[in-house]
Amino acid sequence: MSAPKFPPQPNDATSNTPQSSGSVESDQTKDRPVAKGITRRGFLKGAGVAAAGTALLEGAQVFTREAAAATRGEHDGVKELGPGAVPVTLSINGKEQTIQLEPRTTLADALRVHMGLTGTKVVCDRGSCSGCTVLLDNMPVNSCMTLAVDAIGHKVTTIEGLSSAAHPEEMHPVQAAFVKHDAMQCGFCTPGMVMACSALLKKNPHPTEDDVRQATAGNLCRCGTYPRIFAATLDAAGVSGKESIRNA
Ligand code: FES
Ligand code: FES
Repeated sequence: MSAPKFPPQPNDATSNTPQSSGSVESDQTKDRPVAKGITRRGFLKGAGVAAAGTALLEGAQVFTREAAAATRGEHDGVKELGPGAVPVTLSINGKEQTIQLEPRTTLADALRVHMGLTGTKVVCDRGSCSGCTVLLDNMPVNSCMTLAVDAIGHKVTTIEGLSSAAHPEEMHPVQAAFVKHDAMQCGFCTPGMVMACSALLKKNPHPTEDDVRQATAGNLCRCGTYPRIFAATLDAAGVSGKESIRNA
């Protein structure tokens, strides 16, 4: 009788080591040929290499596409400008003008510094007072918070362009009403107020006092001329304009 082997061998009938069965694969099963000349392990290794190769190829193609887009100054279909000055064409008060601007330039600075339209006032320069209001396609916007390049393709109206093109020497009805009602003190908020009120009348020719209050809710007047601003706007609309305006 031969002596038992130690450690027990997997195929040893005398061994107590559990044998592979069911879904547990033995080393022999793992290396069993799947097809002639191909082992299961070899097949899996090959598939992994092929997948990695495909991923690398796709990565290279994406990189090539991005490099080509960067050469054209585009990313995801968006054209990059700057950082230096680039020609920018803006429609200001009905006239197209092309000026050299760094893309970071605000619309307020483009108007005041680059075009000499200083009627637009920059008061807080941080979007909290609406003193710099201009119209972009008849919508009041804070020009200190709008990039000039974002105004490309839109109609910009400033306080200088509010009068009718046919009679540029005549004041806009809202401007005339502000004069009539003495609706200002220092005047810093006035251009922004006039722009906001004129935009309201264009949209709503017969506003209530609450409509005027709502339209100028973001416009701050540090001198407190609100009652006269409301009266002037209602007068310009032909609604009212008397001293019946309640306290602001
Ligand atoms: S100056 Fe633009 S919001 Fe105050
Ligand atoms: S008139 Fe002075 S801030 Fe309005």
